[in-house]
Amino acid sequence: MPHTTSMKEASVLLPEFRVPELPQWPVLSKQEEKALKDEIREMLKRKNAVLVAHYYTDGALQDLAEETGGCVADSLEMARFGSEHPATTLVVAGVRFMGETAKILSNEKRVLMPDLNATCSLDESCPAELFSAYCDEHPDYTVVVYANTSAAVKARSDWVVTSGIALPIVRHLADAGEKVLWAPDRHLGQYVQRLTGAEMIYWPGACVIHERFRAEALAQLHSRHPEAAILVHPESPADVVAMADVVGSTTALINAVVTMPNSEFIVATDAGILHKMRKLAPGKTLLEAPTAGEGATCRSCARCPWMGMNSLVNLAEVLRSGKNEVFVSAELARKAAIPIRRMLDFARSLRP
Ligand code: 13P
Repeated sequence: MPHTTSMKEASVLLPEFRVPELPQWPVLSKQEEKALKDEIREMLKRKNAVLVAHYYTDGALQDLAEETGGCVADSLEMARFGSEHPATTLVVAGVRFMGETAKILSNEKRVLMPDLNATCSLDESCPAELFSAYCDEHPDYTVVVYANTSAAVKARSDWVVTSGIALPIVRHLADAGEKVLWAPDRHLGQYVQRLTGAEMIYWPGACVIHERFRAEALAQLHSRHPEAAILVHPESPADVVAMADVVGSTTALINAVVTMPNSEFIVATDAGILHKMRKLAPGKTLLEAPTAGEGATCRSCARCPWMGMNSLVNLAEVLRSGKNEVFVSAELARKAAIPIRRMLDFARSLRP
């Protein structure tokens, strides 16, 4: 049963990092886009490559991934799909930890990414050395890290989780009487703790995008659309999560739009997800949750600039040149694969 116990935050000085502006890509004409897509299709085939994209990437990339036999998915399914697909090259449109996870699980495959600088604020806020020292201070805790971390942080963990499987895994650990050291997303960690009642300590990282959602502005928007269901990714602050009708991974939020009877939804996660939601539920009205309060010019800024570094233009370029290959040393990959495979095995055990 959910209950609350205290959850102690690590007292660490998080490193500073720069959040770039959302990249502005040239607007392609219909013919240019078609030509580029045709070229990418041909190169994927010729190079025995498959495109694996996240729901937050540009809609044209998502469509192309599906049209070419690849996948567009949440981070759990991206990892599973890449590791099981027979292609010899995986092209990962997403952020670096997704490319690294693909490489860790398929060390023999070539993994390419449109931009190797596409990082994640959670990954940046959890440097391996600092994190390892924190783990050393708490040897009696089971180390559970979010997939949004570097290979080195994963290698230091007992379990890797994504938002889609964090709850059942932590519940499983709590049932076995284990105490959990959680990193790096404080909001997801607190959400998991509230629902599982697990004894947890946690790293104070956050996603710079989800942290921008504002409960007060969300309440104002909801008062103008009282019939709308509120969908929230659990990387959002607790007061935003508390207003949600559905809290879940990107896949869970998409499923909610498809299956719930409501005709209107307010969506609190990266706006890239709206592409898939619109495709699957074209008759429904989707409103972006506000990321700023009254009077602000930026009503919704929920676009991850690192996810925005993926476009048809640089995807075509990496396929032409073969550059931007992801490397993870064999030793690190061997260690990091253990907790990732543990997660995938656990996910498999939950399937009917
Ligand atoms: P999902 O695993 O829910 O797709 O989330 C990935 C992510 O990075 C959210 O910011």
